[in-house]
Amino acid sequence: MPTMPLRAGGPAARIAVIPGDGIGKEVTPEAVRVLRAATARSGRSIEFVEFDWGADKYLREGITLPAGAVEMLRDEFDAILFGALGDPRVPTNQHAADILLGLRFKLDLYVNARPVELLHDRLTPLRDRTERDIRLTVFRENTEGLYVGVGGFFKKGTGDEIAVQEDVNSRKGVERIIRYAFDYAERNKLRRVCMSDKSNAMTFAHDLWQRVFKEVRQEFPGIESRHLYIDTLAMELVRDPSQFDVIVTCNLFGDIISDLGAQLAGGLGLAPSGNIHPGKTSLFEPVHGSAPNIAGKGIANPLGSILTAAMLLDFLGWEPEARITREAVKSALFNNYLTSDLGGDRSTNEVGTWLTEFVAQRTKI
Ligand SMILES: NC(=O)c1ccc[n+]([C@@H]2O[C@H](COP(=O)([O-])OP(=O)(O)OC[C@H]3O[C@@H](n4cnc5c(N)ncnc54)[C@H](O)[C@@H]3O)[C@@H](O)[C@H]2O)c1
Repeated sequence: MPTMPLRAGGPAARIAVIPGDGIGKEVTPEAVRVLRAATARSGRSIEFVEFDWGADKYLREGITLPAGAVEMLRDEFDAILFGALGDPRVPTNQHAADILLGLRFKLDLYVNARPVELLHDRLTPLRDRTERDIRLTVFRENTEGLYVGVGGFFKKGTGDEIAVQEDVNSRKGVERIIRYAFDYAERNKLRRVCMSDKSNAMTFAHDLWQRVFKEVRQEFPGIESRHLYIDTLAMELVRDPSQFDVIVTCNLFGDIISDLGAQLAGGLGLAPSGNIHPGKTSLFEPVHGSAPNIAGKGIANPLGSILTAAMLLDFLGWEPEARITREAVKSALFNNYLTSDLGGDRSTNEVGTWLTEFVAQRTKI
């Protein structure tokens, strides 16, 4: 399911590439190859600049997100293609927090778009479900909630320890993500938006979500709007995913529910995402992490990263290139040209090469 184009679709783009750690370093180059192939023959120019930010640099130089990095990305690049961060040698995950959360917050990437699309019937663990039944997008608020890092310890390390983590919800933050979800539904001719919260228990923070939802939905009378508590949404997604087109929710619930969604559509190896601020430099990454258990073996599935590249192309307004990239992924699935997580016996590089050739042959001049 394409995200809406957020850029005008100009003839050239500059992309910052941050492969990161573990399998991020293996799947991201494959996505770059496919992007190069998709744009090479379509008359548009795409420039990639790679940055080595990640655990190795942190352990070597003590640097996570270099000084001036945010301003440089904001001013000099259209988008960021990101791999994954996380390394067992950095148990605190400090570099990941500084780089990924740092970019989400400092670039104000308030939309986390996570499409859940079943590309082949056999990939879903649900019985008797087809591609028609699983086709939705989760919009997760990406700059607030429980992820802002407000909190603290009291009497840490003692038997009387208390830990506090604040859930921060601003009127502005809640309103803009809910409006984005409705706007997305309207532009893509989707009928239904579901807002999910836990307002029966979180009676302050999610009361705000309730009030804003009721207000914003008045602006979209053509769209069927509905509310479900997050626990009910989890059940309903498994029972009958066909009842959803667009889901909008807070940072924590969106994190969890989109992983549930990813599994309905074939697993983490296939799940793309975008961290978006409409009209500004935005960051695109596969949903999966750095997978240290398989890193270095050449078996990571690159399709999540390549579908992420398709979302990046949507963001640039380059619709034909995005379409051909998705067709290539579908074709790999139909031809069973896959890595072992999806039942195939191909390497990361073999799958990437196959898709690159598919795209190079199909892209019209
Ligand atoms: N956005 C991010 O950078 C991000 C997201 C999630 C986790 N992480 C980090 O990644 C590290 C590992 O976390 P985790 O194990 O919980 O999650 P993970 O997504 O890295 O891996 C979960 C499981 O899925 C498998 N898997 C994931 N992606 C795959 C792919 N492309 N192909 C085949 N199999 C794949 C892994 O082998 C593993 O068994 C941690 O340090 C964590 O903090 C980073």
